[in-house]
Amino acid sequence: MRFAHDTGRAMSAWHGPQRVLLGVSGGIAAYKACELVRRLREREVEVRVVLTANAERFVGATTLQALSGQPVRNSLWDAAAEAAMGHIELARWADVVLIAPASANTLARLAHGLADDLLGTLCLASDRPLLLAPAMNRLMWAHPATQANLALLQARGAQILGPDSGAQACGEVGTGRMLEPDAIVAALATLAPAAAADLRGLRVLVSAGPTLEDLDPVRYLGNRSSGRMGFAIAAAAAQAGATVTLVAGPVSLPTPPGVARRVDVRSARQMHAAMLDAARAADIVIAAAAVADYRPAQVSTHKLKKHGGALTLELLENPDILAALAALRPRPFLVGFAAETEQLETRARAKLVSKGADLIAGNRVGAGLGIETEDNALSVFWHGGQHELARADKTTLARELLALIATRRAAAREAAP
Ligand code: C5P
Repeated sequence: MRFAHDTGRAMSAWHGPQRVLLGVSGGIAAYKACELVRRLREREVEVRVVLTANAERFVGATTLQALSGQPVRNSLWDAAAEAAMGHIELARWADVVLIAPASANTLARLAHGLADDLLGTLCLASDRPLLLAPAMNRLMWAHPATQANLALLQARGAQILGPDSGAQACGEVGTGRMLEPDAIVAALATLAPAAAADLRGLRVLVSAGPTLEDLDPVRYLGNRSSGRMGFAIAAAAAQAGATVTLVAGPVSLPTPPGVARRVDVRSARQMHAAMLDAARAADIVIAAAAVADYRPAQVSTHKLKKHGGALTLELLENPDILAALAALRPRPFLVGFAAETEQLETRARAKLVSKGADLIAGNRVGAGLGIETEDNALSVFWHGGQHELARADKTTLARELLALIATRRAAAREAAP
């Protein structure tokens, strides 16, 4: 995964996780962990450090304790530390688990789920995003065993930061240097805060699912949207305290608990009407529906018959719902989606402009992500910035997206004259 640097002033505008559990494993790059803790503390991020037994040969617990302002843990069997904060509690405390440096040994141990030390146990006991900044000799990095372990970890959703190429502490030159602390901080900044958004008092309108465009009484043009992302957003918004209206295309999903109103529609034009009607009383609109761009020019009242030979369909363009909502005054905060198979950033940014949206959540379709899938990953763009929401189930992503929407809406309102 590629991380873009926050284009805002990083020091004054930290929107990343607030609580970082930093695992430090054994390698000369462990000295950079000290700098990393400082950089995070400067941004008022809470950091709790866990050292592996090998890390302690490279860096002192006292140093990291002084820099983080928190006790440093290094053992599962430290009765006093466990009494103060048990390891399961520590795993729950974190918004994100970051291991920097992640040695070849640590990657292997994590890939195989070993839990015979504190760091391994914490990683198993955590369902938070796991970020790994590997650091090792170039041949250790290139070794098929390491690469296989990485592939396993990535397939489970871990994000790999780096490594860099260049001169190594062992005197060799190649790939395996740990990313510089600033680059790791920039990667962390692109993760949304894990804290749930507080949407109490806000009215949120969500569209979800496909639209179906009828050709005749039995046939239609449609798409493969399941509606799950939009329904997860509606559920998370209701959970965050919003009054939620859900406009749903034809899907077979139950209304999420807490959703105040559901309007079922079939075609893009019906969705257009329902959304315009409901948007007048909305503070935030999240357009997650996969709206058909075109509809048949004619809808036959009888089933179309085969005539032999080719059939040509004339299609008319459907109204763009988001663009229509952007013209409303007062105008709700508008979030659109962009499902793309290529050039995601360029196309998502173009949509920000063409549709007049405040935020575009882009997802790459294909490679097991996006439409008709359980998991998703989103790159969220706004004028002047972006955030990566790492691969996760749609419920988690919906929560993270809402937290980001709440932050961006607050920032937009602050910036408004
Ligand atoms: O242009 P495209 O379909 O890729 O844009 C996707 C975004 O625009 C989604 O948020 C979708 O709900 C919205 N959209 C719309 N009206 C359309 C087509 C798409 O609001 N006719």
